[in-house]
Amino acid sequence: MIKVAVLGVGTVGSGVVDILEKNADIIQARCGKKIVPIIGVVRDLSKKRDVSIPLTDDVKSVINRDDIDIYVELMGGVEQTYQVVKEILNRGKSVVTANKALLAYHRYDLQKAAKKSTIGFEASVAGGIPIIKALREGLSANHITAIKGILNGTCNYILTKMMNEKGSFKDILKEAQELGYAEADPAFDIGGLDAAHKLLILSSIAYGIDAKPEDILIEGIENIGHEDIYFAKEFEYSIKLLGIAKKQGKRVELRVHPSLIPQDKMIAKVDGVMNGISLIGDFVGETMYYGAGAGKNATASAVVADLVDIAREGQSPMLGFKSSLENSKLTVMPKDEVKTKYYFRVKVKDKIGVLAKIANIMERSQISIESFLQKMETKQLGTTTLFFATHHCKEANVQEALREIEKLEFVSAKPVMIRIED
Ligand code: HSE
Repeated sequence: MIKVAVLGVGTVGSGVVDILEKNADIIQARCGKKIVPIIGVVRDLSKKRDVSIPLTDDVKSVINRDDIDIYVELMGGVEQTYQVVKEILNRGKSVVTANKALLAYHRYDLQKAAKKSTIGFEASVAGGIPIIKALREGLSANHITAIKGILNGTCNYILTKMMNEKGSFKDILKEAQELGYAEADPAFDIGGLDAAHKLLILSSIAYGIDAKPEDILIEGIENIGHEDIYFAKEFEYSIKLLGIAKKQGKRVELRVHPSLIPQDKMIAKVDGVMNGISLIGDFVGETMYYGAGAGKNATASAVVADLVDIAREGQSPMLGFKSSLENSKLTVMPKDEVKTKYYFRVKVKDKIGVLAKIANIMERSQISIESFLQKMETKQLGTTTLFFATHHCKEANVQEALREIEKLEFVSAKPVMIRIED
């Protein structure tokens, strides 16, 4: 029998206990052992919880127990939780965690600490979608040329609603929070950090890269307005918050930002709170994964799958590599050198020479315009909005041009830029 302690018995924790009880038969048949939750740790014992296992608020005493085989970490938090998980691993016990922020900072430290034990973290990326397994086991024969993922359900819900309805950003975010998908602080969702945590975990398995959130380009969806939705529809794009990794020689682009995607691409059709990930391998080609990226049952399903794997005693290296890539070691491409296509929205006073001045800045910055649209403001007479889509150009040049454009006296609001992914 495998005895499990659940650290953090909130929504997902109670889902884990529920699956282990209700699906005990199939779980035992699949791994040849009974997996039994025997204790839960909570911060507030007075809060009513719908689980049958005994609960305590004394995490230390649970960590020190000799009879527990696997700890399920669902407490959240980074530094304190890191100390707890390290202590458990040092005691030779295995850990299953859904904590993407912890892994974004400490995945390599934890891999090192897990000498005699295992860390399962399938639930940390895209909830119920078995994406860690797909990448680490299923595609292990391939160099991964690209990852493009809708990794945050809250942002996808908001962007989908903005495309289909007219609701305000604030109201739609409130709905997403009510659905129980958003982080405790929804700024993590909206600002792109949650998706970045998940992208960093995937990029370790795909490329062996130890980058932190500070090392990569992260932009959220806060500045997307209904004008951008108008442009997207006009040119048959969807807007999605994408986590993107692309191998370029010995370097890897890693970035999270809103992207305009042609509506006929599969990933553009992933709507609402769902997650979707496209993985491209050099031999397999493109593979797509779709499913619930969060929520009680989907996340608990991934946690229990890790428990089953540990019970089966099959060993994959935590981050997928038994040795480093040596001669072909990959590094992260500096943010400024990223090359992609861009969309600009610029609100200006409708005067002679305005368009020429903006086009001139773009020319000086080596930016070539692919398409252009102008829309007169009906509410603010004398102002107009200019929409540009560019050919491929360099991020540094785009940032420079945007700074110049913003300074022009006839530009009446900070220009908005979205990267195009086609
Ligand atoms: N806040 C996350 C999301 C939850 O919206 O996708 C899953 O990690």
